[in-house]
Amino acid sequence: MTDPAARYSALFARRAAKPVAALFRAGAASPQDVIPLTYGFPDPGSFPYDDLAAASERVLDDGGDTALQYGPIAGDERFRDHVVERLRDDDLNVSADSIIVTSGGSQGIQLVTELVVDPGDAVIVEAPSFIGALQTFRNAEAELHEVPIDDHGMRTDKLAEVLARLTVEGKQPKLIYTIPTFHNPAGVSMPLARRHELIALARQYGVLVLEDDAYSELRFDGERAPFLYELDPEGLVIQVRTYSKILAAGLRLGYLVAPEALIPRLLPLKVDVGTSPFLSRLAVEFAADGRLAAHIERLRGLYRERRDAMLASLDEYAPPPTTWTRPEGGFFVWLRLPEGLDAGALLPRAEQAGVSFIPGTANFTHGDGSRYLRLTFSFLPPDQLTAGIERLGRAIQAALAGG
Ligand SMILES: Cc1ncc(COP(=O)(O)O)c(C=O)c1O
Repeated sequence: MTDPAARYSALFARRAAKPVAALFRAGAASPQDVIPLTYGFPDPGSFPYDDLAAASERVLDDGGDTALQYGPIAGDERFRDHVVERLRDDDLNVSADSIIVTSGGSQGIQLVTELVVDPGDAVIVEAPSFIGALQTFRNAEAELHEVPIDDHGMRTDKLAEVLARLTVEGKQPKLIYTIPTFHNPAGVSMPLARRHELIALARQYGVLVLEDDAYSELRFDGERAPFLYELDPEGLVIQVRTYSKILAAGLRLGYLVAPEALIPRLLPLKVDVGTSPFLSRLAVEFAADGRLAAHIERLRGLYRERRDAMLASLDEYAPPPTTWTRPEGGFFVWLRLPEGLDAGALLPRAEQAGVSFIPGTANFTHGDGSRYLRLTFSFLPPDQLTAGIERLGRAIQAALAGG
């Protein structure tokens, strides 16, 4: 009989040999009675069911024949126009020819990776970084080089060191992947000065930057810094965005904002006959008359309250010297355990106490991060968050006591 493995590509076999997929789920599937501070999901109660149903009817009534037909590969024209208008409100002036609509931000990351990364190519990532992007880069067999972050995002001094080292090694990095605003998993944001430094380094070394902007619209306080895309005069920055966090993750709607010259290069890679025109129109119809803006404003209030509940309960229940980030927006808090504790070892103990989290090692590429864990405040109401953090605090306390 033929060995089933012989049916698979060599690339698949090499990917399968690295058991990252299991890690991806670690901590996400929580046992019953365990409060999951794991899921990076929007609040299911926030979905605007009635307005979406009404918008859906309008889509079918007006232009339903084209909404239900195949559409352009770059994306539905009305949706791209709507995106351009929204970006203009955010001081980002781009034309619809700079937009490719994708199946969530995830597909945007995949397309850019496919465009630039060959096996063995150097890709620079933050440490920690978004698990989905790391998995995409690994699938492309990129060689990942980490740059640490601090409370102000990617450390550009360390980025300079990594770029200099790669040059000495004769390696031209293909991509710098960064989440400058409301980082996943760390919740931190990069101030203006660092954004300028990052762009200057990208220009100096001629490296493309993938700016992942999944969360910037969910700002609770503070002032926004300009996007990297805005600060780049040379067409080195591609931005990836999503409707997952501001409307509904199940729509699977996202888009790339890319220098126009790159669009014809990206389009042939998108072999899906176009992201759903129906769902794109649904988003446009929903957004009309200021409904999306009002919805996002509501989400800001909702998630602000949850962020506040999580931070207040950490202040109350997390035993020193535990530390954590204080995000001004987004979904996540990043917690550092006292020295000697390990998040992977703490997880079963925490689950016994009735709470779960994602251990930080999943967000690093070279086995670091064992003292860190990610806590999500978007998915559960404040009372659940408070109960979860109280349980976590107890688990940390018990681990510190060696019990
Ligand atoms: C930083 C970041 N980028 C991109 C995504 C992609 O999300 P989606 O594919 O749902 O747009 C996520 C989702 O969790 C994320 O956290």
